[in-house]
Amino acid sequence: MNDTAVKIEQVVEHYDRLADWSELKEYYSGSDYLNFGYFEEDTKSQKEACENMMDQLLSCIPDKSGTILDVACGKGATTAYLLRYYPPEAVTGINISDRQLEIARQNAPGVKFLNMSAMDMSFPEESFDNMICVEAIFHFVTRTEFLKSVLRMLKPGGSIVFSDMLMTWDGEERRPRRTTENFIPDLDSYRSALESIGFSTVTVEDITEQSWRRHYRHATGYFHEQFLAGKITRDELSQRLHETYERVPDLKYYLKVCCQK
Ligand SMILES: C[S@@+](CC[C@H](N)C(=O)[O-])C[C@H]1O[C@@H](n2cnc3c(N)ncnc32)[C@H](O)[C@@H]1O
Repeated sequence: MNDTAVKIEQVVEHYDRLADWSELKEYYSGSDYLNFGYFEEDTKSQKEACENMMDQLLSCIPDKSGTILDVACGKGATTAYLLRYYPPEAVTGINISDRQLEIARQNAPGVKFLNMSAMDMSFPEESFDNMICVEAIFHFVTRTEFLKSVLRMLKPGGSIVFSDMLMTWDGEERRPRRTTENFIPDLDSYRSALESIGFSTVTVEDITEQSWRRHYRHATGYFHEQFLAGKITRDELSQRLHETYERVPDLKYYLKVCCQK
């Protein structure tokens, strides 16, 4: 088994475990999102933050006509959100897990869901008017190769909109589901890397505060409330706080990115 295959297997195992974790689903108010979301000052819940994230990304696609591909669609909550704007037959979702796709099909009936890796997409050239990818691109080996294939599969004038996370070198190296091949040290290098792929316009917005920082404050507050309500033990509280804060020194930027062909 090569390195890429190992990573894919680990990614599927990790997200499938989270997919069936009922307490996590409760944190997401019963929805099937799995991302940090975008917290406005008055955002009350993680689910609302995830819906805001969809609004943020979709604001980069003013003309929501034609077809759209949801890359790494998770359990289809992001895909279901797309149905507010698109008819189901215009939407395709891909993921690498049969388990998650099974849930996605329930969340977004009528959508075409395929078990396909973003690193090996087999769509013809100029297949989609637009694409979206929420909080997954850093898993793809590599981000740049993925975006090159996106450029081929988008129709002229089409956009890919996505959220991305940049980590320190150590963070990329330590995590089995990430790779130092995707390490980028700062935002200027990030913009240049994307521009050199060949998109006509690239916009990169630093939303670190609205996304993961506020998410962390929200999540840690939630865990404390769970503890105070007697729903989790002190050990469980400690473990959740440990897992949450463990990431803090490694995370550098959370980004909202729009690239137009
Ligand atoms: C953090 S979750 C985000 C899920 C969804 N986009 C959301 O925001 O709710 C990351 C997702 O990326 C998927 N994924 C990771 N690597 C992938 C790949 N190479 N191709 C397709 N999907 C992938 C995982 O299975 C998981 O569902």
